[in-house]
Amino acid sequence: MCGIVGYIGKSSAPEALVRGLRRLEYRGYDSAGMAVLENGSLIVSKAAGKVASLDEKARSEWPEDRFQNSRIGIAHTRWATHGPPTEINAHPHLDRSGGIALVHNGIIENYRALRARLESQGHEFLSETDTEVLAHLIGACDQGNLFQAVCDALHQVEGTFGIAAISADEPDRIITARRGSPIVIGIGDDETIIGSDAAAIISHTRQVIYLEDNDIAVVTAEGVEIRDLDRVPVTREVAELGFDAEAAEKGGYEHFMLKEIHEQPDSLRNAIRGRLDFNLGSSVLSGMGTSARELAEIQRAVLLGCGTSLHAGLVGEYAFEDLADIHAEVQQAAEFRYRNPLITRSDLVVAISQSGETADTLAAVREANQKGAFVMGLCNVVGSTIARETGRGVYLHAGPEISVASTKAFTCQVAVLLMMALKLGRGRRLSRDEGVRLAREIERIPELVERTIRQNEAIAALAGRYAEHENAFFIGRGYMYPVALEGALKLKEISYIHAEGYHAAELKHGPIALLEQGTPVVALANDIPGKDKTLGNIEECRARGARILGVITEGDEDARGFVHDAIAVPACHPLVATIPSAVALQLFSYHVARHRGCEIDQPRNLAKSVTVE
Ligand code: M6R
Repeated sequence: MCGIVGYIGKSSAPEALVRGLRRLEYRGYDSAGMAVLENGSLIVSKAAGKVASLDEKARSEWPEDRFQNSRIGIAHTRWATHGPPTEINAHPHLDRSGGIALVHNGIIENYRALRARLESQGHEFLSETDTEVLAHLIGACDQGNLFQAVCDALHQVEGTFGIAAISADEPDRIITARRGSPIVIGIGDDETIIGSDAAAIISHTRQVIYLEDNDIAVVTAEGVEIRDLDRVPVTREVAELGFDAEAAEKGGYEHFMLKEIHEQPDSLRNAIRGRLDFNLGSSVLSGMGTSARELAEIQRAVLLGCGTSLHAGLVGEYAFEDLADIHAEVQQAAEFRYRNPLITRSDLVVAISQSGETADTLAAVREANQKGAFVMGLCNVVGSTIARETGRGVYLHAGPEISVASTKAFTCQVAVLLMMALKLGRGRRLSRDEGVRLAREIERIPELVERTIRQNEAIAALAGRYAEHENAFFIGRGYMYPVALEGALKLKEISYIHAEGYHAAELKHGPIALLEQGTPVVALANDIPGKDKTLGNIEECRARGARILGVITEGDEDARGFVHDAIAVPACHPLVATIPSAVALQLFSYHVARHRGCEIDQPRNLAKSVTVE
């Protein structure tokens, strides 16, 4: 969603800001803006649309020396919430005097009341945003000290914020603060960079500080001083980012999504490395921070997530029940918080989130914590809010995922959930031999994915046959049911084809009415329990004119005979097979979207990290 960059230091601030914004483009946005200080004056430029338009506009509006000489500034990419994506609504917003500029992520819930109060005091607003209200409030509190003014204003605010502010009167500092919306500060060499995520910082430094909720920092070129909102100094550790600038670039691929699909053998190796114990037939997940006794006391597992992470949870549900004899259920994070869920101290709650910032998942974590559950995070972004608030869990180590459509995070989530199920299972139902066999299968995952990716060109060729349709169905049963849901989500989000995932048996309870001559049906017909029944469902679809693309097991000529086109994935443990099967469908969706000329990495209306409910 929205992105923040701040820069103060030895280089050109506008150039550093634009570079940072470009790194945040993947998050999804619809307008952009920046404000810099030069020679005591505040200069602002904004544009609806892309960062490239902002760059072009600022260069044409500002004299060249402004670009080169300014050493301090803040910038923003906005994903519209309050008011449409126009130039006026884009950030930065200014206070009444025009001397203070503010960028903001999050939502000020009481902005209407604050706005009414300020209007009664004579303030006039140009935009419809909650952020402009906060900018005016900061200005109204300002008595010659921006830090104090921001503190005073934030005390009056309800809601969430990650902010950065500058003042024409204090050209040597940026004030930044957070509550519920991340802020990372990069400590460089004679420069300090602020980002709403580390991608904005990585081309400057790998040394970072993550602000915690209610932290407020004075950022100068020399470093950072952090206090809480009551102005009490606090200490935050300097951490080292686990990736470099190259990892956040396309590396020769046409799209980040294609790059990330191809990275999966490596990301899965990283997710699995050092975590399998072939001696005990178990897994080593020290981040779970549990003893065997604590694990044995778990009565139920609740897996929470949204979108693709929810689908990974569905595979986990099967794995926890089948391998570990633990009653498991997946719940949509958005629903969990508001339905007053029944949770006990013997429940394990696993919050699954690539970004670790998804608002609904975070709210669900807080609810589960309130109710005393044993809560774990399964996140990719190190130091993210969910990772920190759960306090224990397992990182994916998938590396930065830039494409809005999640690919490598999904397969790493499933791999980690399988390792969790293995560990839980060894404390219960699984024998050592069974554990060793499963660990060997998990170890094969990167190679199985490599073999699937080798079919990239063949998948590209067959994708053309499906690209002209406006509706598609994905069906699967058992372990492949979640893969069908994920396949449909992938196709719809990047190709804009209306795609629905169904349990294969469910099709004839309604959706089959929509099948016509040529309607694409993607069937997960892997050689796993239930295959024969899925083949029967394929027959039903064919009889109604559907064109069937089957994901089948290598060498299964029987299944091949039922489908029009096939993608074969290597034979392996049926739970493990979910991973190469999902990869096959990622490639299929990618190539369909490419045939249709879609904007693959940043689909319309979508954001990488959904930080509003
Ligand atoms: O960062 P998270 O895993 O919490 O994000 C959850 C969903 O927003 C995300 O998986 C979304 O569905 C992706 N666009 C799917 O590709």
